[in-house]
Formats: sequence, structure tokens, C-alpha cells
Amino acid sequence: MRIPDEKVQEVRDAASIVDVVSQTVSLKQRGKAYTGLCPFHQEKTPSFTVDPVRGFYHCFGCGAGGDVFSFIMKMEKIGFPEAVKALAERVGIKLPTYENDDARNQEIELLYKANQLAAEFFSACLWKTAEGKSAQQYIIKRGFQSRTLETFQIGYSPNQWDGFIKRAEQANIKPDVLSRAGLIVPRKDGKGHYDRFRGRLMFPILNVSGRIVGFGGRVLVAADGSPKYINTSETPVYRKSHILYGLFQSKTGIRRENRVLLVEGYTDMMRFFQCGFENVVASSGTALTEGQAKLISQHTQQVVLVFDGDSAGLRAALRGIDVVLAAGLHVEIAALPKGMDPDAFLFKYGPEEMRKCLANTFSFVDFQLKQIRERSGLVNPKTKAEAARSLINTASKIRDPIEKQITIKDIAEKLDINEAILMHELKQTPGSESGTLSPTPRKASGRREKAEMGLIAFLLLGGDAWSELIFRTLEPEFFTGSYTRILFEQSHADFSRGLMPNANHLMDRFRDNPQMTAFIGQILSDEVVQNTELSQFGLDCVLRIIEEKYQEKIDAIQKRLKIEQSKGDDRAKHDWINTKKVLENLKVEVILAWKKNVEI
Ligand code: GTP
Ligand code: MN
Repeated sequence: MRIPDEKVQEVRDAASIVDVVSQTVSLKQRGKAYTGLCPFHQEKTPSFTVDPVRGFYHCFGCGAGGDVFSFIMKMEKIGFPEAVKALAERVGIKLPTYENDDARNQEIELLYKANQLAAEFFSACLWKTAEGKSAQQYIIKRGFQSRTLETFQIGYSPNQWDGFIKRAEQANIKPDVLSRAGLIVPRKDGKGHYDRFRGRLMFPILNVSGRIVGFGGRVLVAADGSPKYINTSETPVYRKSHILYGLFQSKTGIRRENRVLLVEGYTDMMRFFQCGFENVVASSGTALTEGQAKLISQHTQQVVLVFDGDSAGLRAALRGIDVVLAAGLHVEIAALPKGMDPDAFLFKYGPEEMRKCLANTFSFVDFQLKQIRERSGLVNPKTKAEAARSLINTASKIRDPIEKQITIKDIAEKLDINEAILMHELKQTPGSESGTLSPTPRKASGRREKAEMGLIAFLLLGGDAWSELIFRTLEPEFFTGSYTRILFEQSHADFSRGLMPNANHLMDRFRDNPQMTAFIGQILSDEVVQNTELSQFGLDCVLRIIEEKYQEKIDAIQKRLKIEQSKGDDRAKHDWINTKKVLENLKVEVILAWKKNVEI
């Protein structure tokens, strides 16, 4: 489904960002730019600007920013390809019908086919072979009914090195396909392959459309050295961080109930489902990822974490909370007794007890407070302060400003701490700017960061003639801001491959990182950048960056100087003089090179 870069560029060139933005924001021309009230945060005076020439927007109030595509993505809450398609339609450009993706689609079909065959093979082994009997007994003894086992297409992989390879051979599927599907593993000596799953109870993993993309396999008898579960390796169709076990079976239930129960294990998921809770998914042991949270958010905004009451389960719950909140979802936690996962709880106490438990979920504030009380208590000011900080840290992840405000109030009341103090603490928390909707990159405050941002702007706007000189003069180590450094490195890497620094390309590269695209927009919208003679501006930035870098070295030498001089050692003094000289020479060199470049 990849849209070719040239087409993206064509659409971008054909569209006017002012026209697009004007559909939702009433814009007024002010000099070269247009301004209006930002659609992404509440404001009374306009701090939202659009640069029609360069095709960017930026809000000085909330930090939102980017190009015409990121504007549509943010406004309509859609992905990049959808935004390109929508805009292409508006400006009347026909996008290719993805014929060039045929090869990729074919490969994906092959992987699905291999997985489908594997599921059928494992199922037949479970129900129709002598060896499968013990697996049948095991799973039935655990109380799983045949309907559940059918729904989840449970199987068994025979304890042989090539059982599945042989079956696939008959079906004309080649070993290299099976290997790319993660179902078999190449032998170390390079001669052939062996089955990945042997002697295990098999849990097929389905994507949201119901295609089988991989497997989890559980040992029947615990053996030393072999893990309880193994999974298919990452493949183009099985990206662990973007798959939730049970989502296919549960998605109607999730929509109906408008909430999802999130558990850790395959058997937890299956047990819930069997007990009539049809809105459950499992993260399958890994810590919940951003991709999984996003997947959930397409179906519901309400998440209940149902994890073990033991310490590993609690840790997983605590990590899960942050991820769920950061995805803009609401989270509650159901606390199960220690040492009991949802499967064990339901098996022992039944669905009614579980229903009670789910009716008495904790907010994350209450849940975390409960943990803290049980661990260390809230006995003295120090533990109380720690508790407050930890809660504020989690609260800072909440996206909805109103919900965030209410939560802070709740924390203040429960800890009996003044709300204003907590708000202050919230502002200190990295990544949170109290009221704004989403964390924005830190604003450049110091001269050094300003110079780094300016340099990137110059690199993108200054024209090709300057790129070479800049990359000859500066190193990535000269940059202290994480964003500016990444942008410098990326541009340098592109440049080494013959691509000139270009804001549009850079944005496309970081398309799945809205903070970065906003940052690029911010850099380019800076008034200083807009209103200064560019080559002089670029020179100022380079000199500032070099000076700051050398100042670091000089400061370090000065520290040594004090110690060594008292011992009569002059080496630091020499270093100090030398470094200052090198800096002065370098500055002269840069200024001369700059002048020469201007003349060309
Ligand atoms: P049962 O013991 O059959 O009830 O499974 P469980 O789901 O309760 O197992 P557990 O709570 O130990 O683990 C939860 C989930 O983590 C499992 O369902 C697996 O997805 C995953 N998991 C557990 N052990 C391993 C392991 O050794 N390796 C890998 N890759 N994943 C594991
Ligand atoms: Mn279990």
C-alpha cells in the first residue's frame, strides 16, 4: 500500500496548505504568513501560523505543527496514506493502484497460506493422532470445552524435528517460505531446517481480520531449559508489538460492551471468553506496546487491566497503565488475589465472583496508592512526596486536559496535598506541559539549543550549496538536543547517499512521530529564521555551536588546571592554551569558507 514518493510530492505541490487549513481555521494574512486561532488547543489570541511558501503550519501556543499532510492527519485523526489519498482526491490527482505492490502482496499471501496449513496440521495432530491424546487430556483437564478449543483453533505440534516440514512438502510449500513464516528454523550447519514447534500445545494467533499470522506453543510437561511458551519469530505478517491475542474473536464484544479486558496470557483470554466475557484480549506476556494500545483505541476507549496479583503481574499492570493513558484511553485496574491469574481465578471461583471483581475496579490513582500503602505506607513526608511524584508522573500521560485536571484534584485530595503544588510538579515532569494536549518537544531555551535548531533550519532552507560545507564543519556530537541531533544525523546520512536536505523528505521520514514533524514545523516557523538574511544566520549558528562545544572542553580543562597547578604540573595549562587556539583558528576557517561560499 506504499504510495510512491514522487506521487506524494506531486500531491503536496498541487495542494495549497492555506486552502486546506482555511476549511477549518479562519486565516488572516500577516506579512508573508497567515495566522488564525489554533484548531488543536483553546485560545483567544491567534498563535497559529501558516507559511504558504514553504508549506508548513505551526502553533506557538501548543507546539503543534507540520505540513499539509500532518495537518489533515491530526485534524481528521487518520494515517498518512489516508491523508495523501484524501488530498489527492481533492486536487484531482490519480494515485497508482498499487500494482507495484503485487510482489509484496504475493509474499504476504504465501505467509498466510503457510500459517493456515500449519494450523490445520496442528489441529489434526491434536484430535486425530495417538500422540495428540495426551495434549487433549491436558487441555480438557484444565476445563476447556471443545467449543472454546474450536473457536481458538487449538492444536498440537508433534514431537518430531520435521513433522510439519513433511506435511508442507506434500502441500507444495517450500522450506524457505516456511522459514520466512517463522514456522521452521534453519539448521546451524546450513543443511536444511527443523520444526520450530515440537511437542507443544499450539495457540494460533490471528490478526484482526481473522487470518492466522503466527503461533504460541506451550510445553505439556515442564522440562529443564525449555521455555514454557515459544512464539513464531517476527515476520512481515506477525509483528508482536501490533498484535493482540483474541482481538479477532472479541472485537464485536468489545464494541458491544464498549470496554476491553486486557490480560497477559493466552489461557487467561480463552478462559474469560469461555466464561461469557467476550471482550478480552491478551498482550501475550510482553509489556503492552504503543502499537497494541492504538489497536485497542480503534474499538473502545475503556480498558480494564486484569493481571495477576503477584509482583510480576503488578509490575506489568503499572507499566500498562502508562501506555494505555498515553494512547488517550481511560484505564481501570481489577486486582486479583496474589498468585492468581484470571484463568486460575475463574476456574476456582467462577464468573460471578469475577463479575464482582470487575464491578469494583480501581482507578489508577487508587490502585497505585494501594500498592504504595501495602509496600511502605504513607507514613512520613518523604514517602508521601514519593507517592505524589509517582502519581503525577502517571497522570502526566493523560491526554485529555480535563481528565488530567480532575485526576490531579483526586490525587491532591487523597494525599492531602495542595493541588497547586501538584500542578507545579506536573509542569516539571518531562514531556508534560501542564495544559497542552500532547507532549511537545522542549522549547529551545538556551542559546545552544536555539543555535542547533537554527542550524537545522538553515540546512533545510539554505540551499544545496551550503550542505556540503555544513557537513564538513560539524559533527553529530556537536549537538546536545536529542531532536536536533537526530535530524542532523538523518540529513547527513541522506546527504552521503546523494540526497539533498529537504524539509518535506525529512517530514516523511518521521511521519509516524508526530512530535518530530511538529518540531520540524516549529524550527522552520521561527521568526528569526523567517526574517534574517540566511547565510549570515547560518554562519552565526555554526559559530555558536562550535563555540559551545569547545567551551565544554575548555571547562573540563579548567577543572584539571586547578588540581594540576597545585602539584606544579603544567600539562593542563598547555592543553588549555592549545584548545583556545584551535577554537580561534577553526572560527577563522569557518568564516573564510563561508565568505568564499557566498561569493560562489
Ligand atoms: P498457563 O500456565 O498455561 O496458564 O499460561 P499463562 O498464560 O498463565 O502463563 P504465564 O502467566 O506464565 O505467562 C503469561 C503469558 O506470557 C503467556 O500466555 C505467554 O504469552 C507469555 N509467556 C509466558 N512464559 C513465556 C516464555 O517462557 N517465553 C515467552 N516468549 N513467552 C512466555
Ligand atoms: Mn495461567
